[in-house]
Amino acid sequence: MSEQPENRSLAAIRNVLDAGRALIYLQTSEEERAIDLFGRLPLPGSDRPPEVYVWSLTDGLQIGGRACNTQPQGPRGILDFIVSHRERAVFLLRDFHECMRDSAEIRRRLRDLVRAGWESGKVTVICSPVRLLPPELERDIAFVKLPLPDAEELETVVRAGAGGAVPEPDDVHRLARALQGLTLQEARHAIRFAMTRIGRLDASAIPLLQEEKRLLVRRTGLIEYVPDTAGIDQLGGLETLKNWLRQRRDLFYARDGLSREIVPKGVLLMGVSGCGKSLSARVIAGVFGLPLYRVNMSQIFAAGLGEAERLFAEACRTMEEVAPAVVWFDEIEDALSRQHQDAAGVMDRIFGFFLTWMQERPPGLFVAATANRIDLLPAEMLRKGRFDQVFFIDLPDQHERLEIFGIHLRRRGVDVSGLNLNMMATRSEGWTGAEIEQCVISAITAARIENRPVGDDHFFNALREIVPLSRTMKEQVGYIRAWAFDRALRASPKA
Ligand SMILES: Nc1ncnc2c1ncn2[C@@H]1O[C@H](COP(=O)(O)OP(=O)(O)O)[C@@H](O)[C@H]1O
Ligand SMILES: [Mg+2]
Repeated sequence: MSEQPENRSLAAIRNVLDAGRALIYLQTSEEERAIDLFGRLPLPGSDRPPEVYVWSLTDGLQIGGRACNTQPQGPRGILDFIVSHRERAVFLLRDFHECMRDSAEIRRRLRDLVRAGWESGKVTVICSPVRLLPPELERDIAFVKLPLPDAEELETVVRAGAGGAVPEPDDVHRLARALQGLTLQEARHAIRFAMTRIGRLDASAIPLLQEEKRLLVRRTGLIEYVPDTAGIDQLGGLETLKNWLRQRRDLFYARDGLSREIVPKGVLLMGVSGCGKSLSARVIAGVFGLPLYRVNMSQIFAAGLGEAERLFAEACRTMEEVAPAVVWFDEIEDALSRQHQDAAGVMDRIFGFFLTWMQERPPGLFVAATANRIDLLPAEMLRKGRFDQVFFIDLPDQHERLEIFGIHLRRRGVDVSGLNLNMMATRSEGWTGAEIEQCVISAITAARIENRPVGDDHFFNALREIVPLSRTMKEQVGYIRAWAFDRALRASPKA
């Protein structure tokens, strides 16, 4: 598939190597993967993959997993060893941040090493799960945060894990996508788990892989992995929104080669309840071919206002780890409206944080925020440039209702050729998509009870039973529409 991104981790490393950096600080908890990646990239001026020496305080110096004959003494010893080494090579130092922290001598020797590296093509990599850079070395060290494995790396894991029975290319692609957001180690573990459970790797393994991911995200409890993304054909009407998404998908995929300003960052969807905001969030993930994560706003506020700020920031940071992905802030104003007066300060700070985070988040994250009452949101949230677009999702018109009836009938295996969908669409004026779906379910239920195929008469009855929200809550719907009129773009073409 052309949508498959290139291996972004290799690209990130190649960038610093090509820039001729001799001292690299690599932030990752995946040391083995880092060793493997460095072992695959020729150093500048060479066309062969380099030797990779690995050093740690506990295991000493190793190459290819075996202890070397010469064993340098301690952190100072390994740096001296590198300085005097004669050939091009990569030296990966595990957890060396600890060694630099309390020794001025070590920090000085590292700077010598930068010079020695430039001269002879040697590269030293400090590998650590945390970012702890001594300020005096900031300029000498190239900092790289190793991205989590992308689809390409994960496809390799899938193929390797399948043993002799290599799965279909389509399945490999889908399985790899289901693994996105995991480290390589976690992905391998998930694959082994699936293999022992069902003995093969095909589409039926996907739920097992997703379970592994759910466990990962559940560690924080603030973010929920949403396994059921939706295809664009499941969303009736809303053509303007759908076209917008199709165009942005290509831009999003080309993000590595684009200036940050034009990489799609997110949308805010507002509108009448039951008209498909949540469904649209699932469709966005489907269209972009990305995993979907929902930030649980009520969980964030459940622990009280004092904690909310910290938890919200933590949720946002966790999301950075799972890029590329769609992050869904569902009913973002909900938490807001339920809080009382003294919440104002906290809410301001949380939304302030959110907006800054929107600007700084890695370009591989696309934000989908939904709101029923957009008028409760602070004005700066709507200012141009925060979101790429603010969409207003209105009650569906005649043509859209027809489409929505069709979608829900077909999805339930009903043959629509003998049904008068036009009549249904006309009679359901003012209905939401959710109400149309309800109507379809009650018609099918009635037909089932009578043990007959679904007919127009079942719909006559079902259409009479439902009193649409737009009638019971006429004023509120009117208010939302009026408010959105000049502040948001209609998700449907006609006004
Ligand atoms: N435009 C639509 N096309 C197809 N189904 C829809 C549409 N709008 C709503 N529905 C149906 O109603 C359900 C509820 O809609 P939802 O997306 O949760 O509404 P909201 O989040 O705006 O309150 C959806 O899961 C879907 O089955
Ligand atoms: Mg919703």
